[in-house]
Amino acid sequence: MSARLQEDGAVQDVSALILAAGKGTRMKSDRPKVLQSLLEMPMLWYVYQVMDELIGPERIWTVVGYQQELLRTAFPDRIDRFILQSDQLGTGHAVQCSLQALVQQGRRWCLVVNGDVPLIKARELRRFVLETIRRQALVGFLSLELDDPAGYGRVLRQEDGCVRMIVEEKDIEGQAFIRDVKEVNSGIYCLDLDRVQPYLDRLGTTNAQQEYYITQLVDLCVQDEKPVLAVNSGHEARYLGVNTPGELASCEEMMRGRIIRQFQDKGVIMHNPDQVRIGPQVDIEAGVEITGPVEVYGRSQILSGAKLDSHLWIQDSRIGARAWIRNFSHLEGVIVGDQCQVGPFTRLRPASELRTGAKTGNFVEIKKAVLDTGCKVNHLSYIGDAYLGPEVNVGAGTITCNYDGKNKHRTSVGKQTFIGSNTALVAPVSIGAKCVIGAGSVVTKDVPDEKLAVSRARQKNLDWKNKRGRGS
Ligand code: UD1
Ligand code: MG
Repeated sequence: MSARLQEDGAVQDVSALILAAGKGTRMKSDRPKVLQSLLEMPMLWYVYQVMDELIGPERIWTVVGYQQELLRTAFPDRIDRFILQSDQLGTGHAVQCSLQALVQQGRRWCLVVNGDVPLIKARELRRFVLETIRRQALVGFLSLELDDPAGYGRVLRQEDGCVRMIVEEKDIEGQAFIRDVKEVNSGIYCLDLDRVQPYLDRLGTTNAQQEYYITQLVDLCVQDEKPVLAVNSGHEARYLGVNTPGELASCEEMMRGRIIRQFQDKGVIMHNPDQVRIGPQVDIEAGVEITGPVEVYGRSQILSGAKLDSHLWIQDSRIGARAWIRNFSHLEGVIVGDQCQVGPFTRLRPASELRTGAKTGNFVEIKKAVLDTGCKVNHLSYIGDAYLGPEVNVGAGTITCNYDGKNKHRTSVGKQTFIGSNTALVAPVSIGAKCVIGAGSVVTKDVPDEKLAVSRARQKNLDWKNKRGRGS
């Protein structure tokens, strides 16, 4: 069952707001924190995936501010629902800036999520939102229990267990008992937009950071005896916020483990799963075998029976059934057909295609080139902007000279042609089918079908005598 909220009549009335305007000072990086990557995808992307599933993209708003142009570039499809917070005066201020747009959209409830919680899952959020609505709370928030709560807002409760307030780490001021509180605020809230405005208006900045805190809503509502709901989710690592490089690495590791387990359950064999990194959009079929360490990212697809040896980088590539990618190869934006062999030490660059059974070996670079079925480029070659026909055999050290300093030119080679070692194919050039090119040739002119082309100085064996009298 999809967790999408529209399916439930009672909760159609929900929009979402993602807070993503902050710099992320503790990350000590110029890049906005929500654009830091986990498995080569920005943190915010993960939050969007969950929100899309839960609410649908048309009702997701994002507060942006610090280096907003980078967020616009990263998520161009979403900029219609970006809200600008020019000065980042705190999480409460971010909601104040958004209220008008949210109210205008006409949904009563708003799920507010910090943009730095990439591990969240739709199902639990759904339960939380439904619970807030069922209880008709003015403010609901999710809390979690941490053995080490340092850095988080602590949840203080009254003796009867009801929530009293959230105290930020920086506002604890030596009250050790608060420091010891293990229940912390996750940064996920559900607000009743019909009733929250007066409380947003009352947020103040009398705190250690002199910011408007969204967490002060809890305090204000409790004082006014308005219903506040705190849903304690226990020891749920999936609500961990990312604030520091260390937390980024921990969350990335958890995300990595989550993805690895999914593929193991599906039937992907990994001999060294701790060192396999697979991006969230990658698809790997059952029956693939991975040795590791291996990195597979982007929209890569690995078909059944393929074998991935260790030390590989594969990005946005399709690897065919029973293909074998051997050690230390780098593949980006390529198609490798069924039963192909790649590497060890091959580099396949974007827009290249190896068709069924083709082979590339050590120290071979292929760029924007097609190697048709059964074609072999086994040693020390550069093939760029080229088409090599079926069963073409390229000798060691062959280079396509595709660039004249200004423009790129194409090379094409017909089927079953044999190119001798150390050949330079000076593009634009076209070689026919079933040709032989003599080793060491510099080919500057087209070669018709079934010709032997040799273009190098004829060898002369001359009499020779040097000054010391050696030789004959
Ligand atoms: C916040 C909570 C804290 C909670 C923690 C959970 C407040 C005051 N504190 O603290 O109780 O335990 O999250 O992870 O909310 N942002 C804006 N505009 C701003 C400031 C921040 O959009 O003016 C965004 C940031 O980009 C970020 C999110 O809000 O995605 C949270 O900000 P952050 O600085 O990480 O808050 P925490 O200190 O982690
Ligand atoms: Mg945070």
